[in-house]
Amino acid sequence: MSTATAEIQIHQQVKTFVGAPRKILIGGRWIAAASGKTFPTYNPATGEVLAQVAEGGKADVARAVAAARKAFDGGPWRKLTPSERGRLIWKLADLIEAHLEEFAQLESLDNGKPVVVARVADVPLAVDLFRYMAGWATKIEGNTIPISVPYTPGAQYLAYTLREPVGVVAQVIPWNFPLLMAAWKLGPALAAGCTVVLKPAEQTPLSALRLGELICEAGFPDGVVNIVPGYGETAGAALAAHPDVDKVAFTGSTEVGKFILAAAAGNLKKVSLELGGKSPNIVCTDADLESSIPGVASAIFFNHGQCCCAGSRLFVEKSIFDKVVEGVAGEAKKIKVGPGMDPATQMGPLVSDEQQRRVLGYLESGLSDGAKAVVGGRKLGDKGYFVEPTVLVNTTQKMTIMQEEIFGPVVCAVPFTDLDEVLTAANDSIYGLAAAVWTRDIGKAHRIAAELRAGSVWINCYNIFDAALPFGGYKQSGWGREMGHDVLELYTEVKAVTVRL
Ligand code: NAI
Ligand code: MG
Repeated sequence: MSTATAEIQIHQQVKTFVGAPRKILIGGRWIAAASGKTFPTYNPATGEVLAQVAEGGKADVARAVAAARKAFDGGPWRKLTPSERGRLIWKLADLIEAHLEEFAQLESLDNGKPVVVARVADVPLAVDLFRYMAGWATKIEGNTIPISVPYTPGAQYLAYTLREPVGVVAQVIPWNFPLLMAAWKLGPALAAGCTVVLKPAEQTPLSALRLGELICEAGFPDGVVNIVPGYGETAGAALAAHPDVDKVAFTGSTEVGKFILAAAAGNLKKVSLELGGKSPNIVCTDADLESSIPGVASAIFFNHGQCCCAGSRLFVEKSIFDKVVEGVAGEAKKIKVGPGMDPATQMGPLVSDEQQRRVLGYLESGLSDGAKAVVGGRKLGDKGYFVEPTVLVNTTQKMTIMQEEIFGPVVCAVPFTDLDEVLTAANDSIYGLAAAVWTRDIGKAHRIAAELRAGSVWINCYNIFDAALPFGGYKQSGWGREMGHDVLELYTEVKAVTVRL
């Protein structure tokens, strides 16, 4: 691991931000929790407290929902033109961009990810998402529909559809890409004209709260975006159950996704879910190994494996199995693991001691089931939540580590002999979020893409994201698609209007 001495200077604005307890944003005002309680958020590189944050609970959720309701039902938000809405979203993107370094550092300190990665991925992707969605505000259209109505012979009608905002939206997000997940959720909701109560993850609330300040600065009307930091079992559960919320959008574990769904049943609010994954990554003998090997390594090690779409099951054709495993292990050894604020760091700590324990528990379970670590397999250092980049072999389909999401820098490599076999194994999962295939045979690549039961398939690449590309899961990986124009379905209702002429 690299040492802390090389760490970059913390931006003055970041120091100020973490220096005071952060509050809850409700109706355009920053307030303390009704209970007066705060909770700590930690720096995962050191395990030390980074900042104190107001602990939103049921009462705060109720106030935030009331503010969002008021802003939606009668407030100025509904009276803005689509163009004005779009311009506000675009302005927010400009503001984030102007504070790029500050956001990159907040992400690194709160989540653990390398600041150099946050600068080129998390923050620019969030900016781009808001710009993309700003464009949609003026393009959410209905249709005119010719109708026949057999029981009113001779009558003429004009029939058309309106696409209207779904209403007050609760959004509960995870800690792996704190700012970007806030953007994925807020961008389309605001473009569609909804109002929002956002709950960031308790592990990483800071960048969403800083974003809240920029939302106020951009000039969004009060109550359009409310941000309630707090724990899942309290604030999150209260949001999912609240009867005045029209829709809940969630990203996180499949387990909690099921709680959200059950809680939403009370008022049958709309639900969209972006959940876990156990994505297969298939390397064929005819792949270009020079690009496949680093590609496969990055598919699992990017963001320390804390990606819902991480390429965590690596299927390699038998004749090249040893060569690819050796190559990926070599890539793992080269990764510079250290504090995210060290500019030389390529992989930081996991987000929390809980996550570190979870990943180490999976490693223990895999090794005792008979898997073998070619590289890695242990925790790293005695401070912070580091885990070695790990490549496991001798894994079988039945092992827990091959079935459950590990959400850490751990890949299970398995040899295969023919395509039918690998497709059956690849699809043998409760999840269906992402998948990839590496081959130079274009026909085979597309045939495999068609057979994989997953919401995203990458061919000769991995983790390619764009605001214009829909993302979401088959099977227990979720309901609905985020980004692209598909996401607008999640935030709009369709109204059919019929006029007798
Ligand atoms: P989680 O699903 O518990 O947390 C995600 C969000 O849900 C957080 O904002 C949390 O406060 C909230 N939440 C938790 N319980 C809730 C409840 N009962 N009602 C409403 N909201 C609730 O995920 P956690 O515990 O942080 O991580 C556990 C595992 O989940 C990870 O190891 C990983 O496998 C998976 N995960 C998947 C993510 C994805 O991007 N799909 C992101 C984060 C975790
Ligand atoms: Mg949890």
